[in-house]
This record gives sequence, structure tokens and C-alpha cells, in this order.
Amino acid sequence: MLKDDYQGAKRAIESARYAVAFTGAGISVESGIPTFRGPTGLWSRYDPKILDLRYFLSNPKESWSAIKEIFYNYMGKNAKPNDAHRFLAKLEAIGKLKGVITQNIDNLHQEAGSKNVVEFHGTAKKVLCIDCKEKFDISEISLDTLPPKCSKCGGLLKPDFVFFGEAIPPEAYAKSQALISNADLLIIIGTTGEVAPASYLPYENQEAFVIEINIEESAFTPALTDIFLQEKASIASKRLGKLLNLEL
Ligand code: APR
Repeated sequence: MLKDDYQGAKRAIESARYAVAFTGAGISVESGIPTFRGPTGLWSRYDPKILDLRYFLSNPKESWSAIKEIFYNYMGKNAKPNDAHRFLAKLEAIGKLKGVITQNIDNLHQEAGSKNVVEFHGTAKKVLCIDCKEKFDISEISLDTLPPKCSKCGGLLKPDFVFFGEAIPPEAYAKSQALISNADLLIIIGTTGEVAPASYLPYENQEAFVIEINIEESAFTPALTDIFLQEKASIASKRLGKLLNLEL
């Protein structure tokens, strides 16, 4: 594994035929969204049980009040894409990047202009009724009274992201595996690589060349990474964008 070899990373991107990005919470830190793990991570302040499906179903009001605070009061409002999101969107626009597989639920890849985004853990931008399965955009729902109820059938509404104990949407899983298996270059940004089954994906293609951007080593670094750029996502992306003459 080569460290901070930006020229090597530039060459790998230039010669790639089918690049795919795999991102985690770290890519959105500079957009103001906290990570889950680490000293200032959300799980150091909130009990992950609020995102346990069984707990949610038996304590919807408590779960929703924590969810609202974390994902809607804090994250939802003013988070904007940063240069790392824009870098991936640009790589897609020039035909290099074929898709982004993200573990994030913040919609920032789409807001940066990425078109082919697979939301492996769903999205916080939608809610669905657990009874009639109707989906609503979060902007259509009032969170003044919790838990929010379905306007169609009165059922309990749940954020449309994957809770612990919940299955990954089959379509997202299949699309992710197809992207990974076709890739000759994998760009992994801002993820510990510790949460399955998302963390299994990069291992499914042992041939792809791997560039990883993270402020510290992840589980992927010793196992898969060919070039490790130890830097904040937006800084490393800006530097790579310059070397590739991309306007971010
Ligand atoms: N730039 C790049 N990487 C960063 C930055 C930054 N500015 N800041 C933090 N990181 C890295 C951390 O070093 C860590 O590897 O981002 C990662 C954040 O780790 P997690 O919070 O565990 O995020 P992630 O790996 O995406 O978690 C996976 O776990 O809780 C579930 O569903 C949740 O999607 C999430 C999944």
C-alpha cells in the first residue's frame, strides 16, 4: 500500500475504465454531519438502540424524538455537499465514475450532482408507513407531534433508512454488487469498514485497484487499499481534482 501517492492516484483514475465509489459518514463530516463512531461520533452521545427496529416499534415516540433531533433538526437543515461529493459527481460527469455506493442517508451525493447513487442504507429524505407502505417526502410530514402518523391510513411512519435488525433493500444490494463486480477502480472514502453487510462489498472484487481517502486507517486499509490518502475527504478531493484538471 502506497501512502499519499497523489500522482499514482491521478494515474489510476486516468487509466480506469469503470471506477466505482464506496462512501461512509466521513465524506460528510466537512458538510457538518457527525460520524457515528469515533470520539465525537453520534454513538458516543446517543444509544444506537434508537435505531434498533424492535425498539422503534415498541417505543416509537422515544425513538422518533431522538431521530428527529439527530437526523432532522441537526443534519437535515443546513448540510450542503462539500468538494468530496462534488469530486465524485465530476468524475461521473466525465464518464469515469459509473456509480456511488453510499452508506450515508444524507442525500448529499445527489445534491452535488451525482446521478447513479445507490443508497445502501436508504435515505432520511423519505418516510414510509409501516402499515400501508405509502412513502412520503420528509418535507410533507410534520414532526411537531411524534410519532408521525400516515395521512392515508393512520399507521406509524418510519424514516426510510435501514435500522439495525432490518434487511438491506434487495435492489440496493443487487445494484451495489453489480457495480462492485464490474469495477477496475474502487475509491473508498470516509468509512471504518466495520459495519456489515456494507463492509463486505469492497472485498467482493479482489482485482480492482483501490484508492482510499480517510483521516485514519480503516479495516480496508491493510486488507485492500493500494493507495491510501490520509487526509480529510474534501482536501484530498480538491488536490486530486486539481491534478485531474476538474473544476469542483
Ligand atoms: N474525511 C475523511 N474521512 C473521515 C473524516 C474526514 N473529514 N472524518 C472522519 N472520517 C472517517 C473516520 O476515520 C471513520 O473511518 O470516517 C469514518 C466514520 O466512521 P463511521 O462513523 O463508522 O461511519 P461509517 O463507516 O459510514 O458507518 C457505517 O454504521 O452506524 C452505521 O448506518 C450507519 O452508515 C453507517 C454505518
